[in-house]
Amino acid sequence: MAFDIIVKGGVLPDGGRADIGISGDRITAIEPAIAAEAGELIDATGNLVSPPFVDPHFHMDATLSYGIPRINASGTLLEGIALWGELKPLLTHEAVRERALAYCDWAVSMGLLAIRTHVDVCDDRLLAVEALLEVKRLVAPYIDLQLVAFPQDGLYRSPNARQNTIRALDLGVDVVGGIPHFERTMADGRRSVTELCEIAAARGLMVDMHCDETDDPLSRHIEQLAYEAQRLGLQGRVAGSHLTSMHSMDNYYVSKLLPLIAEAGVSAIPNPLINIVLQGRHDTYPKRRGLTRVPEMIKAGVRVGFGQDCVLDPWYSLGTADMLDVAFMGLHVAQMTSPADMRRCFDMVTAVNAEIMGLQDHGLAVGKQASLVVLDAGNPIEAIRLRPERLCVIAKGKIVARRQRQDTRLALPGRPANVNRRHRAG
Ligand code: FE2
Repeated sequence: MAFDIIVKGGVLPDGGRADIGISGDRITAIEPAIAAEAGELIDATGNLVSPPFVDPHFHMDATLSYGIPRINASGTLLEGIALWGELKPLLTHEAVRERALAYCDWAVSMGLLAIRTHVDVCDDRLLAVEALLEVKRLVAPYIDLQLVAFPQDGLYRSPNARQNTIRALDLGVDVVGGIPHFERTMADGRRSVTELCEIAAARGLMVDMHCDETDDPLSRHIEQLAYEAQRLGLQGRVAGSHLTSMHSMDNYYVSKLLPLIAEAGVSAIPNPLINIVLQGRHDTYPKRRGLTRVPEMIKAGVRVGFGQDCVLDPWYSLGTADMLDVAFMGLHVAQMTSPADMRRCFDMVTAVNAEIMGLQDHGLAVGKQASLVVLDAGNPIEAIRLRPERLCVIAKGKIVARRQRQDTRLALPGRPANVNRRHRAG
């Protein structure tokens, strides 16, 4: 049997070594040693071969707009939302599309091949919705893009948001979003969770809500989200993004809340890069970190991924589309430093995020989509430590990125010329 591509000698995330045979857009063999012809042979000897990175929380309509029309001076979520409001009237279909496509180039180069992006529906033109639907079609041969109808300015607080959410879903947006903590009152926030979950249930869609992205210990919309997921039979199809208020909640209340979230099958998507810069801005010292309770939720049986949220936009002034940056920050802030926890952080930005997005075709197994990444690292923990070169990225059977390893070693008298790979332990 001949293959289009064989990836030879790679180390799988579980530590096993295998050759991977690819035919068309499918993985067609995973064996200890494949002795067959291939159109392209990728030597991955000793390198980690991973399923693609997945980002379950992003804002592609705002990405790469940093500085337009100005930067966020306070660094807060609320100024970011206000700044985005200044930028929105200036948006054009072409500008949104081109910035999003530029970001997709970055993503592919980093092995990030599935992205769930929220798209603001509060602009009556639905310009960003139409631009991102076009981007979704354009990048489909390489990237799985999922769109969330996101009423950024509040379902009730923004005049046409409800109607625009429905219009966006009618146009083909995949997931129902929301922002209960930005509504005018707690009661409105609660009501928005109910109404949006009912819309999703009636249409058979998933829900992904910005939820409790505040430092307010009494912001408890996650409770309502879990309740509605259970009431409407949406278990496994609902995610709560951010959940930062949980950082500040009363411990007794959390001890009741976490089992309810697990029981309702609601996933959690903390976004460590953005949460660590946006939250705690009103604190003096001690200054809260603002990241939700990641290890505690995992222990309670909640499915927890990590999202990136923002790259170069009104909320976040850095970012590279590298989900290993996200895992690195999440690991530090959540103090997930045991070997098992560090390994878990790698899974969170690959397999767990794919589960949250409902991507059945993700993973290294025969019959799955032929998308993978070869990293200049020996195992998942080393990948987080190094955030290394992606030596090869294969997207749906196509080789889309290849890079050379670059080594550095001082030329000193009496020192062997043969070098170790840069910063790698083995
Ligand atoms: Fe977000």
